[in-house]
Amino acid sequence: MKVLIVGSGGREHAIATAVAKSPKVDKIYCAPGNAGIGQVAECVNIGAMEFDKLVDFAKEKEIDLTVIGMDDPLVGGIVDKFEEAGLRVFGPRKNAAILEGSKAFSKDLMKKYNIPTAGYENFDSPEEAMKYLETSKYPIVLKADGLALGKGVLICNTKEEAMDGVKELMLDKKFGNAGNTIVIEEFMTGREVSVLSFVDGKTIKIMTSAQDHKRAKDGDQGLNTGGMGTFSPSPFYTEEVDEFCKKYVYQATVDAMAAEGREFKGVIFFGLMLTEDGPKVLEYNARFGDPEAQVVLPRMKNDIIDVFEACIDGTLDQIDLQFEDNACVCVV
Ligand code: AMP
Ligand code: GLY
Repeated sequence: MKVLIVGSGGREHAIATAVAKSPKVDKIYCAPGNAGIGQVAECVNIGAMEFDKLVDFAKEKEIDLTVIGMDDPLVGGIVDKFEEAGLRVFGPRKNAAILEGSKAFSKDLMKKYNIPTAGYENFDSPEEAMKYLETSKYPIVLKADGLALGKGVLICNTKEEAMDGVKELMLDKKFGNAGNTIVIEEFMTGREVSVLSFVDGKTIKIMTSAQDHKRAKDGDQGLNTGGMGTFSPSPFYTEEVDEFCKKYVYQATVDAMAAEGREFKGVIFFGLMLTEDGPKVLEYNARFGDPEAQVVLPRMKNDIIDVFEACIDGTLDQIDLQFEDNACVCVV
């Protein structure tokens, strides 16, 4: 079969490498790809947001399966476009990718369905946000609602820093419209663990855990980056944590999305913080993590094509997801 992968990062390289291992696959394209990906796939000079061109390309080349790696096209509705054209595609539709596309949405979802997360309020008025900050406890966390390349989260130690943060996000529009709404959230402490999962709308299968390093500078003193390095598995993802999350987080999220009429098919990335009060969800992503995919996918034993197809067809319950008993590390 012929596979098209959309994206240009280390994540898409990891996806392409996994796809290349499948005996079912005889040709891989990647749009736009990068030099490394060029070693396993043919790179195509079409941008990830050029939906019409990508659909035309997939039709012309008779692509059997398209895999969307990146958040922007997913949140922009690329999967809906491919489906409307009768093409098979792996990833959530626009109405489900909102799980990552709007932090205000995901926080409200967690509150409504009792999924453990930090306490918060959403604001679309900077005046209201600043008023709230007058009586808040510090440190406090500000988050741009929309996509901001993983940089839209500000941890503020003082009221002054937080006021400046509101100005930056909502008035100066540092991240454009992503800051029209912000989430102001309780600051939590604990170890962070990333968990990737495959979802077919009803069933969720957890991949192995990983640990990401986000904050710049020694001693984690700098701002958040998109991710500077990662390893898998995480020693902090214990059986106890796994049991807790299986009970209160993973299936609960999939069921909540289905109950909202936003059936989720694809990858859900759970950013967890292991707090003293138990694991809590920091964030959801609607795709493989980057760099996490680079340490998780090489450890997967299954033919990734079988797993993608099962997610699309709603037959994930029949897949026995297995990982090597080894470890993997990636430095960006
Ligand atoms: P997010 O994009 O929501 O995962 O946030 C990026 C990073 O900011 C996380 O990986 C954490 O390191 C940090 N962070 C986010 N929310 C909180 C919080 N409520 N308390 C402490 N740190 C946080
Ligand atoms: N490494 C975090 C992310 O992919 O969002």
